[in-house]
Amino acid sequence: MLFLIERNLKIIRTTRAIWREASAARASDRMIVLVPTMGCLHEGHLSLIRRARKLAGARGKVIVTVFVNKTQFGPGEDFRNYPRTFKRDMALCLELGADIVFAPSDEAIYTADHSTFVVESRLAKRMEGTSRLTHFRGVTTVTAKLFNLVQPDAAVFGAKDWQQAAVIRQMTGDLNFPVRIVLAPTVRESDGLAMSSRNNYLCAAEREQATVLHAAIRAARAAVKNAPAPLPAGMLRRKLARLVDKHRLAKLDYIEFFDPTTLEPVKRVSRGTHMALAVFLGKTRLIDNGRL
Ligand code: PAJ
Repeated sequence: MLFLIERNLKIIRTTRAIWREASAARASDRMIVLVPTMGCLHEGHLSLIRRARKLAGARGKVIVTVFVNKTQFGPGEDFRNYPRTFKRDMALCLELGADIVFAPSDEAIYTADHSTFVVESRLAKRMEGTSRLTHFRGVTTVTAKLFNLVQPDAAVFGAKDWQQAAVIRQMTGDLNFPVRIVLAPTVRESDGLAMSSRNNYLCAAEREQATVLHAAIRAARAAVKNAPAPLPAGMLRRKLARLVDKHRLAKLDYIEFFDPTTLEPVKRVSRGTHMALAVFLGKTRLIDNGRL
């Protein structure tokens, strides 16, 4: 006889309720795997949920959070316009077998008198940190809150945001959160563009030129592969900047070559060096990274 067991999806809105739900799961000895997101789910997010489902196993609990975290947006950034597609997100979470979605209101996470922030003060200052001064402070603050509320065994993050994952891993160690940080590979469109909720902002012409980010990574990889010796970072950066410049709608913010673990910039680029870049397409700022 065939039994079809449909999992249901619990949608939780308050900190008290998620705390209670997660505590009950822990008390019955179930593994908890957390997937923090800001919603508007795409294949990149879905790959993290699938990974979480595998890690948690049939008995464990997969908790996806959907929260557009205002503290990680700078003034003039897209907090208000950030795409919100809640119904669709819920359908996808159900389809992928998530157990719980935690989707709190702004006020539930940041009470009117909220005054405590978590700051990672080394890795967060580089790259994205130079362009977006308080961004990682917002990311580490909300992630620490989620870790406290859920107390997961593991949390899954995407390699798409390499620096974010490094900052969170550092914070997790520094603050002794007993959470395993799992990194999942970047999911791309067929033309190489890394999936991102912000791709929704691009007009057709910008979307076409947005492939330049991945093209720059591929060009750097080829240059490193063909070079007889490590390449001077300045020279490679200038070469890639020229490639970006050829795209009329693209404006380079930064290109960095660095050690993948310490994020320490390198002067000479060789196989295994990591590269990250940020490019504006019109008003939309996109990031990407990869191992060379
Ligand atoms: P968000 O941009 O929604 O991304 C949620 C998670 O999905 C992050 O771990 C991100 O790295 C991952 N992700 C995004 N695009 C991806 C892609 N193309 N391939 C693989 N993974 C991808 O990152 C955030 O939200 C927030 O900063 C958050 C961590 C939730 C804190 O607010």
